[in-house]
Amino acid sequence: MYRTHNCGELRIADVGKEVKLSGWVQSNRDFGGMTFIDLRDRYGITQLVFNSEEDAALCERARKLGREFVISATGIVRERSNKNPNRATGDIEIDVKQLAVLNASRVPPFTIEDDTDGGDDLRMKYRYLDIRRPVVRENLVFRSKLAIETRKYLADEGFVEIETPNLIKSTPEGARDFVVPSRMNPGQFYALPQSPQTFKQILMVAGMDKYFQIVKCFRDEDLRADRQPEFTQIDCEMSFVTREEVLQTFEGLTKHLFREALGVELPDFPRMNYDEAIRKYGSDKPDLRFGMEFVELNDLAKGKGFGVFDNAGLIVGICAKGQAGEYSNKGIKELTEWVQRPQIGAKGLVYVKVNSDGSFKSSVGKFYSDEDLRQWAEAFGAEAGDMLLILSGEAEMTRKQLGELRLEMGRRMGLMKPGDYKPLWVVDFPLLEWDEEAGRFFAMHHPFTSPKPEDEQKMLSDDFETMKSLRANAYDLVINGAEIGGGSIRIHNRKLQEKNFKLLGFSQEEAEKQFGFLMGAFEYGAPPHGGIAFGFDRLCAVMKGQTSIRDFIAFPKNNMGRDVMIDAPSEIDPAQLEELGLKLVVE
Ligand code: AMO
Repeated sequence: MYRTHNCGELRIADVGKEVKLSGWVQSNRDFGGMTFIDLRDRYGITQLVFNSEEDAALCERARKLGREFVISATGIVRERSNKNPNRATGDIEIDVKQLAVLNASRVPPFTIEDDTDGGDDLRMKYRYLDIRRPVVRENLVFRSKLAIETRKYLADEGFVEIETPNLIKSTPEGARDFVVPSRMNPGQFYALPQSPQTFKQILMVAGMDKYFQIVKCFRDEDLRADRQPEFTQIDCEMSFVTREEVLQTFEGLTKHLFREALGVELPDFPRMNYDEAIRKYGSDKPDLRFGMEFVELNDLAKGKGFGVFDNAGLIVGICAKGQAGEYSNKGIKELTEWVQRPQIGAKGLVYVKVNSDGSFKSSVGKFYSDEDLRQWAEAFGAEAGDMLLILSGEAEMTRKQLGELRLEMGRRMGLMKPGDYKPLWVVDFPLLEWDEEAGRFFAMHHPFTSPKPEDEQKMLSDDFETMKSLRANAYDLVINGAEIGGGSIRIHNRKLQEKNFKLLGFSQEEAEKQFGFLMGAFEYGAPPHGGIAFGFDRLCAVMKGQTSIRDFIAFPKNNMGRDVMIDAPSEIDPAQLEELGLKLVVE
């Protein structure tokens, strides 16, 4: 037997018991006659004590144990004279009588502590050491709990967990596919699923009614903190449901997860349509932990001789509460440079500071009187000490830029508080987005999303402007500015699906070749259906107040899509290529 207890469970009530613990050496401190070892396992840390007066040889052996050695120790639990209130086992220690070294360890390349000295690549290369760090370990334990609670909730709601294949053909979710060559079918390739979208719809045609799966998805796209090439979805689909029923079910799931995993009771989720989100926050995933809503100034700011505003499609700003005093000329210059960075791309930034004597200081003071600026301030509800930040230009782009500035101000002003959760349903997205360069429409969500019921007939028309105005029966779950999930009520009728593919630039043959199986299935009694998928990694990260999903994934890829621990991707053996009927040409 290796252990009677784990390293996180012994308390003052256990004093006097003989116990055996196994784990890793966290630290080894030698105080002459006494040696103290902190022993760690998944559950915590317990202090071991070796006394040379009692057993000099044992104490000497203990003294030689290095960090991360695997040992087991048998001894008596005793009360500590010098208690550690920061540790669950801090009232006790083990007076060790027997010690076994189960395995030695090389000196680890970084410290196994929450606040480690290891850089990202080193941590990923030695991920097994990284996962020993309590922060990473706890993230994975949290993820496991969420997965288990998800299964519990959905099973209680009558959902059936069904696995769908990984070797499939392209499902268009807007990214590139990862492809897998087929040995038995030379020159042919599978695609790894970007999502199980078509399969879950087929399961509805098959009568499975309520499906879910916690499933890996693969997308070859540029990576960011909240994106991995393989990630996990809580993927769901339901038959005979309206949008309302889908939203209720998955709002219920979200509330259940917050309650069970965090002890947080979420209130009912507000809903906002896409147009309103863009108009008020310049984003389809607004962070509602703070206000700073957009105020449009076209009516008040045009026609006063300031050319930039006179020629702008939109003049729009935010009010940063209490910030007037925080920004000197240098600060304003730095903020202006921030919005002018290529990632944001604004041409300039106009500010108005509301002084406490009712006067104003502004970068456009020579074009606007104090009365003009007073009207602006009134439109923003601004008070003394506040600062207006205003951008102008083409409407869509300007809103996006101001959306970024709003988030940056939120960050700088400490308004994105961890532990504060603001979920939101964003609904009524446009169905199609016109791409001027490509000269065609793209599906805003994916090609299987149906228009809102009142727009279905309109979709069958051929009028370009009508197509642009179609609304999708789609919805996104947003929490604290992160897109956690997205879904829609689907098209379940062949004619409408064909029309959608046509609008998306598919020829009839292409549509048939790629999605004939789905449209064929629609001819055999497809029920009305809809669903949603949550990004599981993102949900974990947002619930834990983090922006990066990496440390909620046991073995993530780096920004180049590489797994540096196993060194993948890598070249393959020429014989393997030959077997696949492939020839390597690297340019
Ligand atoms: P969508 O493409 O919106 O919808 O994906 C659903 C959710 O998955 C998460 N997500 C990602 N997470 C990490 N890394 C990525 N690369 C990544 N890409 C997406 C996001 C997103 O909201 N089949 C549809 C769902 C449906 O219609 O039911 C789909 O996949 O949190």
